[in-house]
Amino acid sequence: MAAGLEGVVAAQTSLSWIDGKRGMLVYRGYAIDDLARHATFEEVVHLLLEGSLPTPDQLAEVGKRLGEEAPLDPLAVTTLGLLPTTTIPMEALRTGVSLLSAGEGVPTYDADDPDSSRGHAYRIVAKLPTLIGTFHRLRQGLEPVVPDPERPVAYNLLRGILGEEPGDDAVAAMDCALVLHAEHTLNASTFAARITAGTLSDIYSAITSAVGTLRGPLHGGANEKVAELLESIASLDDVEAAIDDKLARKERIMGFGHRVYKTEDPRGPHLRDWAERLADQAGRRELFETALKVQQVVFDRKGLYINVDFYSAPLYTAMGIPRDLFTPLFAASRAAGWTAHVLEQQANNRLIRPSSEYVGEREATWVALEDR
Ligand code: SDX
Repeated sequence: MAAGLEGVVAAQTSLSWIDGKRGMLVYRGYAIDDLARHATFEEVVHLLLEGSLPTPDQLAEVGKRLGEEAPLDPLAVTTLGLLPTTTIPMEALRTGVSLLSAGEGVPTYDADDPDSSRGHAYRIVAKLPTLIGTFHRLRQGLEPVVPDPERPVAYNLLRGILGEEPGDDAVAAMDCALVLHAEHTLNASTFAARITAGTLSDIYSAITSAVGTLRGPLHGGANEKVAELLESIASLDDVEAAIDDKLARKERIMGFGHRVYKTEDPRGPHLRDWAERLADQAGRRELFETALKVQQVVFDRKGLYINVDFYSAPLYTAMGIPRDLFTPLFAASRAAGWTAHVLEQQANNRLIRPSSEYVGEREATWVALEDR
């Protein structure tokens, strides 16, 4: 049995491919380096949901569709406002995704109709960023920011959280982060979405499964733990002791290691460059230098490489985003990949039901209750 299904091919996909040895990632054949440098998140959404890079007219249509779908129904806003302000944002997001299927006037959902599913896919991608910003504003006792339908997802995501006009570099960095986090073959949360879709359950249930799975610190939750680690280190001189202390306690260093990559995660350098630029602009150079030193010490000690979560932490910190919103940002981006995998599963579905190896008791003898 392959523990954790390591190395097991559980599905065929045309959405993305990883070469773990060479540290390569492609979305529908396009190299992540090209996408990170040249594509917008809207282009990647079209690439994943429709199968091709959009023409200028198609790109305008994607932007219009996401802009129109971004606002939340009153039910979602009201319910998010009833949550305790101490609710963990990933729990609020999981709740919010469920609410998206319950509001007034929600278009009917037909798992057998690809166009119906695709319409709901755009709806989910458009609304996750608004769920994040709306919960964050409500937990501060502030009015939610209404998304501007003329602006891109990255702009509205930042403005919905910060409540102010984001800088151009911050929007560009967020757009790149959304591109980089959008899709990644059968990671745990994507697999959870496909398992749910495989029963012909609805797309909202599949994405709720994915959000709950992403939250774990071994997966998307790692970025918040990276921020905790970096902020716990007072100065560069303290890095080695901090890392050695964790390793001595056999603790995992969050943001390092990967089930598939056996070299540096190709998404890391792009996030590192933006983290350096935004940290400099925010006067937080020491945060970036600390991250660089941690990367070097962990590699020297354990030969471990960074993964996508490592540099997203100093980047989001430099942007002034609260730490407990880091994993929700990951979810906002991965909603594109999750929904694309749901559509792919539905297009050629077979119930996902693996076998198990029984290692329990055999031929146990029944004992009546009074005799136990
Ligand atoms: C994401 O799957 C995806 O594609 C995910 C993702 C995506 O885009 O969807 O890339 C996003 O989730 C990135 C990963 C974020 N998680 C973390 O940063 C948490 C820390 N990383 C580890 O827990 C670990 O590396 C995993 C969970 C990511 C992968 O673990 P594996 O493949 O199960 O490997 P393992 O736990 O068996 O570790 C192998 C060895 C062990 O040493 P030994 O016990 O054999 O001596 O490497 C060591 C581990 O102790 N190791 C680490 C480590 N990661 C692995 N030691 C310290 N710190 C780490 N981070």
